[in-house]
Amino acid sequence: MKLIVDKAARLAELAAGQYTALLSNKPAAVLGFATGSTPLGLYAVLCRLHREGKLSFREATSFNLDEYVGLAPTHEQSYKYFMMQNLFSQIDLPLERAHVPSGMDVSAETLAGYDRAIAAAGGIDLQLLGIGNNGHIGFNEPGTPFESLTHVVRLTESTRQANARFFDSIDQVPTQAATMGIRTVMNARSLLLIALGRAKAEIIRAALTGPVTPEVPASVIQLHPDCTVYCDEEAAALL
Ligand code: F6R
Repeated sequence: MKLIVDKAARLAELAAGQYTALLSNKPAAVLGFATGSTPLGLYAVLCRLHREGKLSFREATSFNLDEYVGLAPTHEQSYKYFMMQNLFSQIDLPLERAHVPSGMDVSAETLAGYDRAIAAAGGIDLQLLGIGNNGHIGFNEPGTPFESLTHVVRLTESTRQANARFFDSIDQVPTQAATMGIRTVMNARSLLLIALGRAKAEIIRAALTGPVTPEVPASVIQLHPDCTVYCDEEAAALL
């Protein structure tokens, strides 16, 4: 695992460099995207590089990690909407190849179809991850088996509280989400995890230096052969 500690703005530029390197070598790369506050700086840089003509996603395909169950893609708090606002509408990735799990159809067939679609696209080349305060990656909450594929999870109260800031009230935060599983994430050829802020310091220490255990889902990245972790100084404070 490679660890890079720097200021958040610099991390966004460095992480964007992984995308320019990958897409210049492999224009039809398969990208795994994440939502939440953490990737916003990176997405802004990717949009800028695209505007400047330095980065094209025209031949790429993407798969997002997760989506809230019960939120339609037009709902302002859905992750599909988030991706449209913050990335997809500003780059040239063809929307028919920009996949986000369905929050409206979570049948076993549709969930298994997400993993099949990733495999059919050739597997994910570069999977972006944030980390939850409880160590979740995607919405794989503590206790999720490492062998899990795309599935529906019940969100923990701590995750719902953490995400309530985006909703009018905690009651509006969905109780379930569809998420890539830990095996789905670990199958990616490269992982890129970003952690920003003091609130992530304890969980970053546990995930990077503690035992590899389903109780800290992000600890599984210690087992990945090609993983780069980008932390700002606050998130790296306890390393
Ligand atoms: C989002 C996701 C989550 C977030 C995590 C951190 O697609 O998969 O694991 O990365 O909850 O969220 P932020 O970045 O808002 O702190």
